[in-house]
Amino acid sequence: MMQKIAIMGAMPEEIAPILEIIGEYKSTEYAGNIYYEATYKGCEIVVAYSKIGKVFSTLTAATMIEHFACTTLLFSGVAGGINPSLKIGDLIVATKLSQHDLDITAFGHPMGYVPGGSVFIDTSKELISIAKTVASELEKTLKEGVIATGDQFVHNETIKENIVKHFNADALEMEGGSVAVVCDALNIPFFILRAISDTADTDASFSFDEFMESSAVISAEFVMKMVDKIIE
Ligand code: ADE
Repeated sequence: MMQKIAIMGAMPEEIAPILEIIGEYKSTEYAGNIYYEATYKGCEIVVAYSKIGKVFSTLTAATMIEHFACTTLLFSGVAGGINPSLKIGDLIVATKLSQHDLDITAFGHPMGYVPGGSVFIDTSKELISIAKTVASELEKTLKEGVIATGDQFVHNETIKENIVKHFNADALEMEGGSVAVVCDALNIPFFILRAISDTADTDASFSFDEFMESSAVISAEFVMKMVDKIIE
């Protein structure tokens, strides 16, 4: 079967570099977002940004799969670093993701768990292996780690520490965990890549404003190298 690749971000800045690389595309409005369809090097791709957060990213991921018939999903964007080894602009690929704000601990469940779900969702090992090949070809460092997702821009050490305590997360953001739920449920191989824009501390909003765009470019360019490798 011919594959159709979804490439998504949360914010316009996260997909702008991708649209620039693909050059020509058809824009379709659907359910309050714009989907950019293109044939890139002979492969069908669909690009979109969802808007920030778990609900909007759920809608976009589900739309790309169910409405636009995408068979693989790559997410590109920025994240707050938790692991001290992660510096601004560094790339991290999620091995697994969780929802750090999903809390029914009142009933004795662990953070991030609801009945019928799981605390973590694994990403595609094949796509991570492609990413590692791309990283070594580009001589770039690519960290693998746990990403925690929640509907909150984290700018506080205590919240960060709690996320580490419950999930041992290396980075945090606001969409990966929900995209993971959708792709896992619909059996679509998926990949979540993030470049660090801040370290989720008290200065996070300033760091984010300064580095979000440049980090978004780093992530987007890497994801497009992965697309090249996937369709090679
Ligand atoms: N994305 C980038 N930085 C973030 C932060 N500090 N919190 C949540 N999402 C982010």
